[in-house]
Order: sequence, then structure tokens, then C-alpha cells
Amino acid sequence: MRVVSGIQPTGNLHLGNYLGAIRNWAAMQDSLEEGSEALFFLADLHAISQPHDPSALRSATLEMTAALVACGIDPDRSVLFNQAQVPQHSELQWLLNGTARMGWLNRMTQWKDKAGKNREGQSVALFTYPVLQAADVLLYQATHVPVGEDQKQHLELARDIAQKFNNDFCSEDAPVFTLPDPIIPAQAARIMSLRDGSAKMSKSDPSDMSRINLSDDADTMAQKIKKAKTDPEPLPSEEAGLADRPEARNLVGIYAVLSGQSVAEVLSQYGGQGFGGFKPALAELLVATLGPIRDRFVALKEDREALDAILARGAAKARERGAPTLTAAYGALGLVRH
Ligand code: TYM
Repeated sequence: MRVVSGIQPTGNLHLGNYLGAIRNWAAMQDSLEEGSEALFFLADLHAISQPHDPSALRSATLEMTAALVACGIDPDRSVLFNQAQVPQHSELQWLLNGTARMGWLNRMTQWKDKAGKNREGQSVALFTYPVLQAADVLLYQATHVPVGEDQKQHLELARDIAQKFNNDFCSEDAPVFTLPDPIIPAQAARIMSLRDGSAKMSKSDPSDMSRINLSDDADTMAQKIKKAKTDPEPLPSEEAGLADRPEARNLVGIYAVLSGQSVAEVLSQYGGQGFGGFKPALAELLVATLGPIRDRFVALKEDREALDAILARGAAKARERGAPTLTAAYGALGLVRH
């Protein structure tokens, strides 16, 4: 097994990232068998696809490193690094640009969402972003890629690119790339905004009240849950009763994953009750789960030297792991390189 995944170091780590992906990263790292390996990275190269402040990006890269370690990613067991220190990601992206098709990228919903009506004004990087994401996983022969639901389409594209490259340039018994499988959690694959049950919880939402950040203190978390949008009805006692109630469904879903219960179990406890009783229970559960992570994060994030050292060590290992695949890709394309 080769587990590979990444996160953009823009803004804070939020509850969606944690429940949708990072919790799974840590669990997969912890259950790896001898001979398997996990690589996790800060996707800082992806972060320049949209307007950004260079000094903020540098700080956010170190802070996100601290956040991942606080969430249980152990730099002694997993390879933890930032893309910018591993030039093979960019090199392989260029090689894969020859295989990826304009039509495939044009269909990416994230591109459509982020570009909106102003496609002409977007950076080329925002358009080719999914090719870099394909390079990120194909470089390491990833077999398993733990992500939230919103990254599924990008992973399917990575598989398409790998398949076409193998078909076009490799003999059947010696493909260059492994086709990666996305690993999406059964519950919490898509955590929604606290202000709008139809939008995903996101770092780019202008309202900080829409998300729970790992850096929020207990009072802030409780306040955000208290103010979270809901409807006037009591909670239903059956799951079907949540169908047209996206905000209620989101909060119950969060409660369920945090408490390790199914949605049906949560509703059997809270069905018939209003949000007045449910919200404080949810806030308490959140603080109990994220509080200890937050404390570790706060303790780690100021030690920039230690964080830099973690990333340098991880990058050296990543460069080593990526080298054979990159050489094979150059060779398959007929590019001479000694
Ligand atoms: P990013 O930085 O937006 O998010 C990191 C991870 O968090 C998940 N996630 C969510 N899960 C559930 N509910 C939400 N509201 C929510 N918001 C975010 C994402 O699915 C993701 O798993 N393009 C990627 C980063 C990336 C990457 C890669 C991922 C770059 N290269 C290679 C996997 C493999 C991104 O922007 O994720």
C-alpha cells in the first residue's frame, strides 16, 4: 500500500478537512503494515493558482504542518513535506500535460466553480491544477488516496491520465503508473457550511462563522454552533426526516461521526427535541474532540525551526521516493536525460 494525500496550506485547517480527510490520514498511517508507506504533503504549489500573499503562504505552510502533526500525522512514520521542495511534482506535471486533454479539464466542477463567469481572467495554473494533482499521486505510485468527496473527480482524472499514458507510451506488461483509488469516508465525506447547508464548509468562505477552525478556542466553537443556521422544527426521529433539511442533516451528521454513532442512533436519542438541547451537546462533543488537538497545535506552531526541519527531512525522502517513476516517465516519452 502507498497512501498519498495533500492539503492546500491556505487558511486554517477546518472541521471539514479534519473529518473528511485528515482523521482518515492518521488512521491509515496508524494501520499500515510493514512494507507500506504513507506520504502527506502541503500543496503549496497548488496555492499559487489563485491570488495569494507570499509571506502569508509561507506562514500558512508552517502552520498547516503544525496542524497535521497535532492531528496525529507522525513525521517519523509518514513522509511529511511541502511540494515546493520536491521539484519532481512540477516536472511530472509538465510531462503529463502532454497526455491530459483540454476537454477533461474543462469538465472539472472545481474549475467551473472557482472560475465562475470569468474564465478568461483566471490563471493557467487554476485550469491545469488537476494535472499537478495527478502528478502528486502518480509520482509515488499511490494506491490509496484518502480525500473528502469534493476531490473525487480530480482523482478520477488522475486515473484517466495514468491510463492514457500507460496505453500510449508503455508496453502492457510494464506500465509506468499505478491507478490510484480514492478513499472517501462513508460518513462526513462532505461537511457543509454552518451558515448554508447547501455549500460545503470551506476555507474560502468569507464568513468565519461558516466553519469551525482547529485554531478556535472552546468559546468560539460553542458560539459558532449556537449561531449555526437551523430551522424551527424539532429533530426527526427517523433519518428520512432529514431529507429536506440540509442544515439539520449536517449538524446531526457531525454529531454522529464525532460520537462514533450512526445517524439513526443519534436521532433515536434526540428525535423530537429542539436544537436548544442538541446544539450544546454538539458543542461539547466538538470541544472534547478538537480541544486536545488545538492545544498540541498551539504548542507546535511557534517552533518554526522544528517545523522547517520536519519539512526538509520529509522532502529529502519524497525526492528519493519519486525519482524512479519520474525517470521512467521521461524514458517512456523518449526524452533523453542522463
Ligand atoms: P483542500 O486543501 O481543499 O482540502 C484538503 C482535504 O480536505 C477535504 N475537505 C473536505 N472534506 C469534507 N467536507 C468538507 N467541507 C471538506 N473541505 C475539504 C478535501 O476533500 C481534501 O481531501 N486539491 C486538494 C489538495 C491536493 C490533493 C492532491 C489531494 C493537491 N494534490 C493530491 C489529494 C491528492 C485540495 O485543494 O484539498
